[in-house]
Amino acid sequence: MNQTQHGIYIQPHAATTILKSHPVESCIFIIFGGSGDLTARKIVPALHSLSRDGLLPKNMHLIVFSRSVMSLESLLEKWDTIGRSADSLEEKDGAWDSMMRSVTIVRGNYDDIKAYELLRQRLGVIESGNEAVRNRLFYLATPAISYPLILTRLRQGELIHENEDDSAQPWSRIVIEKPFGVDRHSAQQLNTLARNAFSESQIYRIDHYLGKETVQNISVLRFGNSIFEPIWNRKYISHVEVTVAEQVGTHGRSRYYDQAGVIRDMLQNHLLQLLALIAMEQPSRFAADDIRDEKAKVLRSLRQMTRESLSQRVILGQYATYRSEEGVAPDSRTPTYVGLRVEISNWRWQGVPFYLRTGKCLRSKTSRIVIHFHPIPLCLFGLGESCDHVRPNVLVIRVQPDEGTELRVATKVPGEDLTIGTVSMNFSYSEAFGKRGGDAYERLLLDVMRGNQALFARDDEIELAWEYVDPILEAYEDGKNDEISLFEYPVGSDGPAAARSLLSPLGHEWSELT
Ligand code: BG6
Repeated sequence: MNQTQHGIYIQPHAATTILKSHPVESCIFIIFGGSGDLTARKIVPALHSLSRDGLLPKNMHLIVFSRSVMSLESLLEKWDTIGRSADSLEEKDGAWDSMMRSVTIVRGNYDDIKAYELLRQRLGVIESGNEAVRNRLFYLATPAISYPLILTRLRQGELIHENEDDSAQPWSRIVIEKPFGVDRHSAQQLNTLARNAFSESQIYRIDHYLGKETVQNISVLRFGNSIFEPIWNRKYISHVEVTVAEQVGTHGRSRYYDQAGVIRDMLQNHLLQLLALIAMEQPSRFAADDIRDEKAKVLRSLRQMTRESLSQRVILGQYATYRSEEGVAPDSRTPTYVGLRVEISNWRWQGVPFYLRTGKCLRSKTSRIVIHFHPIPLCLFGLGESCDHVRPNVLVIRVQPDEGTELRVATKVPGEDLTIGTVSMNFSYSEAFGKRGGDAYERLLLDVMRGNQALFARDDEIELAWEYVDPILEAYEDGKNDEISLFEYPVGSDGPAAARSLLSPLGHEWSELT
């Protein structure tokens, strides 16, 4: 048993595995957009760490489908350079070297039928080789505008195995990166195209927030402890904050970002997924569709924004230097910050505001969920002054950094007088377990190879999330109305000061961005 510096006893060794992961199956990994930055920054480093930890299946092959004319050597060099700067391609091993030797490039435009024929031939060679591997994992890491074309060509080229439900047959699966559409209509169209080519059980819409260790812990914290679930409702919880603050700006992606903005880039996916996990009912089984059913129910219960309520419920901001960045229009109105008050119309949450905020170039990088409980119902021991000193309980779930949870409780300060203070019961993952969980991309890639869709968004979740944000986008982007203004905020600040007005009518305040 360990005693942490905060005085909490933990027994990490007493942990029990209650659900073993399915085995990871070998496959041919076909990356569309394989010479792009996403592949070099996220996918290749994740594959490398999995290989280093011995978690990748044997005989994996990598095929890069790319429009660029880059040679194989230059591509491997690019992966190496970017991977090293991400501090992950330091230690190489035999397994990795042999996977790198298996990399081949299929060059062509995404609509070029001949290139898909080349891909088919390449797959045929591998699948009939000595160490035959027959499963196909397609990964769309291209700009989203190319997704429809690739999905159509894969279907027309008959490159997809159809039998996901027959475990004796090879499978085909597809990973689709966000942004998944730009509004509900385009997301529906993309879903239709994806389902024309693949069945829903073959489609993995990736949201890397769902792969974060602490995000998965939300369900264990809620449903694995009998003390939280009974109070997880409007009777005990006063309000909830969900913050995803970033210090970085657009990080070399300004062209994409200036089209997307913070609502499409962060709110429609990461923040609404976090909200759904905090607010959902307990799934009846720990199976992908049971979890996704519950999340979809929350998204369906979100009280729609009306034009009248927008000005009180949404604040948009843009950091002061944004318009002078390369790739950004000098008169851009793209928001880089959004704060909003979300209401959930169901019995559990009626009347409990969920305050969401996310932005770039803020004071600190921190993602956290703060659950504020109601104040005590009467003053302690009839002492009128005590009311001002007993602060309501707060539960903080630190998603990143310093992953962990913290419960703030009232305590008597030692001494003759009755003095009340607040202390924190703090649990930190690294302190308790000595290690952090794997990177989100690593976990999610393994899940695709295992056929586990629990941490991927289903078609209806995506569309419901768009349904919620569309009225905000429409009202802001048609430019005719002034329901939502854009506030400038200084780089390194907490965002626009106006964001306080979302909480102040109910006497609430944002937690500090530490
Ligand atoms: C991505 C967004 O999905 O998430 C980026 O496109 C953002 O703009 C990133 O910076 C944040 O992820 P994380 O894991 O660093 O919080």
